[in-house]
Amino acid sequence: MEGIAIMTSGGDAAGMNPAVKFCVEYAKKKGFKPFLVRNGLRGLIDNDISEATKEDVSGILHRGGTILRSSRSTRFFEDQYRQQSYENLDKLGIKKLIVIGGDGSFTALNRFYEEYKIPFAGIPATIDNDIPGTDYCLGVDTALNVIRESIDSIRDTALSFRRAFVIETMGRNCGYLAMTSALSSGAEICIAPELEYDLDAIGERLRVDVEGGRDYIMAVVAEGSNMAEYLTRWIKINLEMDARLTVLGHIQRGGSPTVRDRIMAYNFAVQAVESLLEGHTNQIMTYTQGNYGTAPIDVIHNKCKIDPSIVKLAQELAL
Ligand code: F6P
Repeated sequence: MEGIAIMTSGGDAAGMNPAVKFCVEYAKKKGFKPFLVRNGLRGLIDNDISEATKEDVSGILHRGGTILRSSRSTRFFEDQYRQQSYENLDKLGIKKLIVIGGDGSFTALNRFYEEYKIPFAGIPATIDNDIPGTDYCLGVDTALNVIRESIDSIRDTALSFRRAFVIETMGRNCGYLAMTSALSSGAEICIAPELEYDLDAIGERLRVDVEGGRDYIMAVVAEGSNMAEYLTRWIKINLEMDARLTVLGHIQRGGSPTVRDRIMAYNFAVQAVESLLEGHTNQIMTYTQGNYGTAPIDVIHNKCKIDPSIVKLAQELAL
């Protein structure tokens, strides 16, 4: 039986555990001998690899994070460690890899493929939703729901007090989480790297509202815009309203995967095993315009595109 190893790599995301479980189960069904790599790329180097047992993947579906753990290894970019990784896989009869992670992990595995001819399939997983070629990455829906819950809670206190609240979301350089959250939580302001913002226009719009009786303001800011602290101060001075900043931080990466993330994980897992069975060597799994598919690894060099309808709607909140 041919060995196939499954690993998670880079920032953890909800949906990784269901993806691991479904990959193991589907690979087994298709005649592979599944292995698990622990600790991401570091585990490949340090031979933290074992055959997947039923117990390994039982009771993990609903858990956030990744039971395999993850890492952002720089050692893997050194020749000697890739050689070591290859030898580890070879000894165990592992001929194929599935990596659940982000574009950095796919790039690393592609380099490995080019040198050692170990084909891999990449399953996009990051709350940032910034992997080119796919509209969806595992973890995004769960993160959006964590953010929604947090903003709803903040709104409770906002409604009880005359105050503005600025909420900073994660997403690295991508404003998807911020824009989607601002729209779905009825925020008055959204600032994200994809948006042109005009503080004077925002000021004029909200001053009219405040004069008309509005006594709280919610603003959602993407971390990539680096504007959260500045906007908090700006509101205090320009709208004469007490303002508080909440940086949501890593809370957004946790939580039990939502139904959407579980189903997406299922589909990506099946697709990944099928892609390898069909003889593809370095593809990433995609979901575009409602369809599951695959894309050649080179797609990660493209610019990530956010649904233009989201950007258009969110733009209104930046002016
Ligand atoms: O890529 C996922 C992410 O959570 C980003 O949104 C954030 O900028 C970054 O990782 C945080 O990285 P770390 O967990 O290393 O602090």
